[in-house]
Amino acid sequence: MNKSLTKVGVVFGGVSSEHNVSIKSAKTIVSALRGISNKNKFEVINTYIDKKGRWWTGAIAEEVLNKGLLKELEERFQADDPIGLKILNKDLALVDIWFPVLHGPNGEDGSIQGLFQLTGKPFVGSGILGSAIGMDKIAMKTIFTSVGLPQAPYLAITDNDFLDKEKHVELITQIESSLGYPCFIKPANLGSSLGITKAYSSQEASLGLKLAATFDKRIVIEKSIKGKELECAVLGKKNLKASTVGEVSFGSDWYDYETKYSTGLSKALIPAPIPEKIVTKVQELSLLACKAISAEGLARVDFFFNEKENQLWVNEINTLPGFTKQSMYPMLWKESGINLDELVAILVETAKE
Ligand SMILES: Nc1ncnc2c1ncn2[C@@H]1O[C@H](COP(=O)(O)OP(=O)(O)O)[C@@H](O)[C@H]1O
Ligand SMILES: [Mg+2]
Repeated sequence: MNKSLTKVGVVFGGVSSEHNVSIKSAKTIVSALRGISNKNKFEVINTYIDKKGRWWTGAIAEEVLNKGLLKELEERFQADDPIGLKILNKDLALVDIWFPVLHGPNGEDGSIQGLFQLTGKPFVGSGILGSAIGMDKIAMKTIFTSVGLPQAPYLAITDNDFLDKEKHVELITQIESSLGYPCFIKPANLGSSLGITKAYSSQEASLGLKLAATFDKRIVIEKSIKGKELECAVLGKKNLKASTVGEVSFGSDWYDYETKYSTGLSKALIPAPIPEKIVTKVQELSLLACKAISAEGLARVDFFFNEKENQLWVNEINTLPGFTKQSMYPMLWKESGINLDELVAILVETAKE
């Protein structure tokens, strides 16, 4: 260990359904932290959380980064150390700054941020509050409404509001009269488009509600918006900056799981082919969205833009956006003049603020 280097504790994997994306994001971030311009500043200490929630450091974490999922993990697991806390204690005392590279529940929702806070060491990204609000679509929408951010009309419910037959019928009637079809039905705490239904009829809405309820008791139903999907990256803490705006373009009906993760089904247009005025508006609203929920360090704010009506809506905020080489977040910063090595260095430096 070189004492002059900042020890960056990268934590990746995790029990959420976005495990594999997290490994890919971590690979990109770790190689940037070890890049030519950073290797004299940082030393990386990797921690891998497997799909069962067990923590692995050292050689095993490195191996996962290099090779992806490891089959032989089960054999190496020690039953007397259920989540790997012994290894954790030894290696993690060395960490100066945490860098969570986890997406979705447990990684992006304030859980691990609470653990980092207890260690007394700074960490990259939003704190407990910003992470928790950013993850929960109902909390996020409520706060966005309170600061006047334009959003699609929506209903926020819990599974209790439709589990019995009578309430279910009432809810469907309410969806029809207040939102109409198609509408989007989403579990409040998830990501990667999982558990989401675009419902074109009362039957599809019923099925959509049931599906969403298998993931979360908190559910959001939204009016469907027609328009381009725009994304803007935010970086900083005291001094928040917004990047160039990008567009995600795809041929399918909506940006569902398959479209998101199959190569060739979607593409990023950077910069987005939209009027300069809209770019400025997206950047302003992105900063406002971050301030509203107390998002810090990094975030990606997503929008819908209807060209005909010249109208912009905020869709959501992601406080730990995808970070693979093909992800919007690093690509937007590259277009804005900050390369990958510089970007990760800024993220680590910002954590110290
Ligand atoms: N109100 C809406 N109108 C139109 N499309 C929507 C709406 N809500 C969601 N979508 C579509 O579903 C995708 C996923 O929804 P989103 O709320 O971003 O969930 P996730 O957190 O899983 O990414 C969006 O990228 C978009 O294609
Ligand atoms: Mg999304």
